[in-house]
Amino acid sequence: MPTPTHKLPTEGARVVFIGKGGSTKTHTLAHVLGHWSRMGIPVAAVDSDEPGEDEDGSLVTWNQMTNGRMVPTKHADDESPLTVKAQYSALRLPGTIIEETPAEGILGIDTGSWANRPGGTHHSALAMASLAVLCLQPHEGELHRSASVWAALKHLEDTGSRRPELVVLFTRVHHNAKSSGEVRGTMERSGITVLDNAVPNQMGEDGYSRAFGKPLELVEDDPMHKIAVEILGRVSL
Ligand SMILES: Nc1ncnc2c1ncn2[C@@H]1O[C@H](COP(=O)(O)OP(=O)(O)OP(=O)(O)O)[C@@H](O)[C@H]1O
Ligand SMILES: [Mg+2]
Repeated sequence: MPTPTHKLPTEGARVVFIGKGGSTKTHTLAHVLGHWSRMGIPVAAVDSDEPGEDEDGSLVTWNQMTNGRMVPTKHADDESPLTVKAQYSALRLPGTIIEETPAEGILGIDTGSWANRPGGTHHSALAMASLAVLCLQPHEGELHRSASVWAALKHLEDTGSRRPELVVLFTRVHHNAKSSGEVRGTMERSGITVLDNAVPNQMGEDGYSRAFGKPLELVEDDPMHKIAVEILGRVSL
């Protein structure tokens, strides 16, 4: 497959996925990790989303359900192809993130439903990442709701923490949705970067929504592949 030329930082890059509940953070992160791995990039993940009592759609569980084989690797005999470390303590999260980041590779950080809480896991993950991907459905209302993300970044800046570059990824985009172009325009006019590629709403039998718990079926040149390439371009040197 055509692999874009890329060079990642020696110490590795870190990409955190944020967004409200159900914005497809976990499914999208899983797919992009899979595509990066298939390109030969070392990948690992940290999951900071503590599962609630009745729901567990976490990256950790997904990886366990596939015996660590949710993403393809270069070597079929690899004992433990993907490491997904759970870390729900905001205090310990930075240390785990540092430990897990693969050299010259990419660490994906999954987060729970967005919460702008100083001292919480989201702030902690943001301060450790080089790039934050804000997943949201392209509705005008979402733009207003996401204001607290910018407030969080400002808080990090004001308190002397590092802050990541932020990009918006449109997810669950309906075919023919004209609102998506309008929301993109509104965001770009306010200086927000929106990724060119988006996650389509895919509920069908073979859709992204059914991927959970199984090894990923990666399709070359599909939207997830394009998103992986686009994000890779942003974290490469
Ligand atoms: N592209 C898609 N189109 C439609 N539905 C999807 C898509 N991707 C995932 N889903 C479904 O949407 C739901 C939420 O997906 P996912 O768990 O990835 O979101 P999340 O942002 O990680 O949510 P949470 O904040 O609860 O962790 C799941 O039921 C999943 O099957
Ligand atoms: Mg999730």
